[in-house]
Amino acid sequence: MEKRNIIIDCDPGHDDVMAVLLALANQDRLNILGVTTVAGNQTLEKVTNNIRKLYTYLGISTPIASGAAKPIIRELITAGEVHGKSGLDGWDFPEPSIELDSTNAITFMYEKIIEAEGKVTLVPMGPLTNIGLLIATFPEVKEKIDLISLMGGSIYAGNVTPYAEFNIYVDPEAAKIVFDSGIPIVMSGLEVTHKAAITEEEIEFLKQTDGKVTKMCGELLYSYTRYHHSEGYTSYPLHDVCSVMYLLHPDIFEYKDLQVEIDTSNGIHRGRTAADNRQWAKYERPNTRVLIDVNREKFIDILFKAFAKLNEMCK
Ligand code: BDR
Ligand code: CA
Repeated sequence: MEKRNIIIDCDPGHDDVMAVLLALANQDRLNILGVTTVAGNQTLEKVTNNIRKLYTYLGISTPIASGAAKPIIRELITAGEVHGKSGLDGWDFPEPSIELDSTNAITFMYEKIIEAEGKVTLVPMGPLTNIGLLIATFPEVKEKIDLISLMGGSIYAGNVTPYAEFNIYVDPEAAKIVFDSGIPIVMSGLEVTHKAAITEEEIEFLKQTDGKVTKMCGELLYSYTRYHHSEGYTSYPLHDVCSVMYLLHPDIFEYKDLQVEIDTSNGIHRGRTAADNRQWAKYERPNTRVLIDVNREKFIDILFKAFAKLNEMCK
């Protein structure tokens, strides 16, 4: 089977790390051209440090380039209350020794996309600042991007506000560029990511299982649950994992094709991914495949197998 070229754009972040691990374990199917970082869950410096620390710990890597330190026009909002002071609290990583690519993420993505044999899939799992800037600066890349499989948005209810999901809320102007770009989009929003949740028992299982990667994931996810307790969660959404999982196993998801529009106002609707979801709504050209459900058991099983595979790869 031909490998799919991908670039992951992330702000690690606990769930970002789980998503990157799933991709790393599936390099027989995914050709990872690089991982780019964007400010979101924490500052750019911290999230970039986190991916470098992860790669140093694993002893495997892909090219990494850091991108935007703040949204296109707004001030940065971070999610330290969810992911901790470092953005990736819960595991004692070694100091990072993996070097960053010297190019800024926007130029890095542009060069990788233009040089790539065949088309490239973008997999954003943080605010869409880097991707928005890429499309606005180098619109010619649109021809070579076959799909954007992103984590962000929600059709029914938000998390950071009643209407908006964090990644879109942080940089709605960037999100608007992406959703209006004409590039096919698969959106893993909160409808599906809240169903892609891991239970306490499953996290405990990871913690108790030997293996360099599995144990680390158990401890990281345990730390990730701390915030969710105060919010009343009893299982914990692995949001960003959906964006990679869809590329590998689209068959375990259900979806609707909708016309999604981004609200860039400053009021209560800021960052809303608005769509007419009425049964009789008709779209001439839906711009987004919105994932709405997932087979949770299969999802967890595939993810745990990926961790086990990485235990062997990273001995
Ligand atoms: C999104 O926000 C971040 O905290 C997570 O990493 C995920 O990308 C969920 O709203
Ligand atoms: Ca993220």
